[in-house]
Amino acid sequence: MSKIKDIKLSPSGEMKIKWVERNMPVLRGIGEDFKRIKPFAGMKVALSVHLEAKTAYLCRVMEMGGAEMYVTGSNPLSTQDDVAAALAAGGMNVFAEYGCSMERYEECLEEVLKVGPNIIIDDGGDLVHLIHTKYADLIPNVIGGCEETTTGINRLKIMSKAGELKFPMVMVNDADCKHMFDNRYGTGQSVWDGICRTTNLIVAGKYVVISGYGWCGKGVTLRAKGLGAKVIVTETDPVRALEAVMDGYEVMPMAEAAKIGDIFCTVTGGRDIITAEHYPLMKDGAILSNAGHFNIEVDMDALEKMAVEKYEARHNIQGYVMPDGRTLFTIAEGRLVNLAAADGHPAEIMDMSFAIQAMSAQFLAENRGKLKADVVAVPREIDEDVARRKLKAMGVEIDSLSREQAEYLGK
Ligand code: NAI
Repeated sequence: MSKIKDIKLSPSGEMKIKWVERNMPVLRGIGEDFKRIKPFAGMKVALSVHLEAKTAYLCRVMEMGGAEMYVTGSNPLSTQDDVAAALAAGGMNVFAEYGCSMERYEECLEEVLKVGPNIIIDDGGDLVHLIHTKYADLIPNVIGGCEETTTGINRLKIMSKAGELKFPMVMVNDADCKHMFDNRYGTGQSVWDGICRTTNLIVAGKYVVISGYGWCGKGVTLRAKGLGAKVIVTETDPVRALEAVMDGYEVMPMAEAAKIGDIFCTVTGGRDIITAEHYPLMKDGAILSNAGHFNIEVDMDALEKMAVEKYEARHNIQGYVMPDGRTLFTIAEGRLVNLAAADGHPAEIMDMSFAIQAMSAQFLAENRGKLKADVVAVPREIDEDVARRKLKAMGVEIDSLSREQAEYLGK
């Protein structure tokens, strides 16, 4: 059963899925393995991940492994209706619609939970939070879950500390083959894809302000520099701030950067990074965007309240006219710009992230009942397996340690 926008959109979604399949060789190989060993035979898997083509292909790979899939998105503005239609046309249970209300979004999360899943694949922690609050009676069915992103892991750690987490959750984001490539190079490229295609403006010569010099922030600044921007970083962690200075960027508080920036992008995983205190300081025409998981990094409520007029300046760009006549622009209402205003990370990057997801889900299935109800690290062997498969797919060979070298290094 599915609740989607329009099943007739499926041919365009199918084309997108075929394109990413071609560019996700590691996941393709895992799919072939899954077809043979069926690690999820008889299991229901609930998935809430940004519903675009790469995610759709992950769903198909899980299905090859025998899983009965129940799929929803993880943000109303990142769902692609044609992709959802293609999955539904193939018989998968899909509940997602682009641009739906937050109430509808939550109903869709509930639809995939109500079936009583055995494994949960989450992105940002909404499904896990909901099952612990509203559907606690279904928890005994759950073997465990996998969490895709930094924000979701932060939420899980808070639950774990409070003793509230009731099943094992594998921290996919913290695997090297995830955050070193997805957060850094994936976010780095796709954020600029989103900003450039939405604004159609030049980046070279502009002051670009990036908040957060974590894994994502490092990628977003690196690519801004490559596009010729004058890059400013804001941080709260002194070590990360020092790293940004040594990497050649200007570092300053937001109260200073607000006066200078032409384009802003927050990517901290925190909240209230650009607020009412900063709007009066900004230049006319400043463009505000966010790449952090939730749309709470740029204070949209404050902007709505302060503006004397709001208008659609271009598709996915909102103009807010301030009382003094300046206009500030936001992209995709402050939702994650690379997904709400572009197609998310490149397929070759998600090849690794979703390979980690699929193998972590297999790890959960194979270790049913053996793992603690806590956050669980991705086993090192999975990380190394994914890296080896990726290198092989890229045609890159590497040396291996001789026995003497291994002994010398204590390995
Ligand atoms: P991270 O933990 O590596 O880095 C976050 C950085 O932000 C830290 O250095 C922290 O000190 C800094 N920070 C926190 N509060 C701040 C503030 N008030 N002002 C300035 N800096 C501040 O996290 P990571 O992996 O870079 O993820 C950041 C966010 O991006 C998370 O919400 C994550 O879920 C999301 N994400 C988004 C992706 C996308 O496709 N748009 C992909 C991967 C992650």
